[in-house]
Amino acid sequence: KKSSIDFFVSEIIEVGVNTYQLRLFPSLEIPLNEIIPGQFVEVLVPDKSVFLRRPISVCDIDPDNGWFDLLIAPVGPGTRSICGVSAGDCLNIILPLGNGFDQECAGVRPLLVGGGVGTAPMLYFARKLSENRIQADILLGGRTQNHILLKKRFEAFGHLCITTDDGSLGEKGLVTAHSVWDDEHSACFVCGPTPMMKAVSAICEEKKLPCYVSLENKMACGIGACLCCVQDTKEHGNVCVCTDGPVFLSSEIKW
Ligand code: FES
Repeated sequence: KKSSIDFFVSEIIEVGVNTYQLRLFPSLEIPLNEIIPGQFVEVLVPDKSVFLRRPISVCDIDPDNGWFDLLIAPVGPGTRSICGVSAGDCLNIILPLGNGFDQECAGVRPLLVGGGVGTAPMLYFARKLSENRIQADILLGGRTQNHILLKKRFEAFGHLCITTDDGSLGEKGLVTAHSVWDDEHSACFVCGPTPMMKAVSAICEEKKLPCYVSLENKMACGIGACLCCVQDTKEHGNVCVCTDGPVFLSSEIKW
């Protein structure tokens, strides 16, 4: 059940080029372990002139220690204001929202692909899969080594593969060119910039590999009221990414 809760910021650190990790503790006890990887939250912007909450993917959760992490790229007034918080500050957050990834669809050897802040939901997903003894291949792509986020933390939960545009880390090129694609996988899960998701979904179609995309359409209300997040799909026409998604089978999407 979704609720609006105040969270205390315990730390905010820069984890890559223009990307910050916020570690948050809820002000009251909530069942954090019921949150599904791929779900998102809506953060109230501290700057009161920014009216709309910002949708942010859940990056990681440690229910034993009671924290959860968000990854935020300060790209507009809302996200810049959120990244301006300090340890000890409070943020009001509505959670959990959206459908998330279905672990039952992962099979024995899933491939998780992330780019930019789209890397975020893959960390919590990899953690949950490894709790169920599934070692995922995790493929992260970025412009340079400084654009690859949370490398060490991913290594704890799966087999990490990296591509960078400039070859400063991992294999040189785009994620679609990485040699891990030569291996057999049971399903693919992807989140990142739209051209990346589209290219990954094309490879999966060719390989007849089920591919699930977590769309990052612009959102405003986050509750299916404003229709600014609509996505055209093959079978169901226009759907709301905020309430019907953000995760869809890629073969359903009209790219
Ligand atoms: Fe308003 Fe989806 S964000 S309907």
